[in-house]
Amino acid sequence: MGTLVIRWTEQRDIEKILEIEKLSFQSPWDITTFQSILSDEECYNISAVYDGQVAGYCFAQIMRKMVHLLNLAVHPDFQQKGIGRALVNEIISFARLSNKSYVFLEVRKSNSIAQALYASMGFTHVFSWRRYYSDTGEDASIMAKKIE
Ligand SMILES: CC(C)(COP(=O)(O)OP(=O)(O)OC[C@H]1O[C@@H](n2cnc3c(N)ncnc32)[C@H](O)[C@@H]1OP(=O)(O)O)[C@@H](O)C(=O)NCCC(=O)NCCS
Repeated sequence: MGTLVIRWTEQRDIEKILEIEKLSFQSPWDITTFQSILSDEECYNISAVYDGQVAGYCFAQIMRKMVHLLNLAVHPDFQQKGIGRALVNEIISFARLSNKSYVFLEVRKSNSIAQALYASMGFTHVFSWRRYYSDTGEDASIMAKKIE
């Protein structure tokens, strides 16, 4: 069992994040997207550092009453160690401390692993957004968790 630290994402993490992003998604975000979210004060961006290495990340947009989880990924070599759950837990804690009502996200209908993670943390399917993903035309499931 290694050591896991969740901390704010820093500029120096971007190279590793881009590598993980390309391994994780068929239409990965580019560096410009990451840079603009990293410099946006309305975003809460965290990285998971496992045994000293950036192993995963989560980017979220802070809205007036909600937190919008924009992106989540864990490097394939570090999956199934509880890192994804730890990142989402941190977003939920942040939402609670900031008095937000909900955390919500979009997830591909085919992404059963991510849906299982979110469901196990109390997120429920709210509605389907038809053909949300322009690359494949796939539907999104919009999932939300009420913050008590
Ligand atoms: C989704 C993702 C972030 C999960 O990260 P992870 O660190 O492996 O997740 P955890 O180890 O914290 O596992 C949490 C839960 O996820 C689910 N899960 C994770 N890997 C799974 C697998 N291979 N098969 C089935 N369920 C799985 C389980 O519900 C698990 O809970 P459990 O350990 O109690 O069974 C990771 O698989 C990933 O980066 N996938 C590619 C990118 C992606 O799909 N991001 C989400 C976009 S919405």
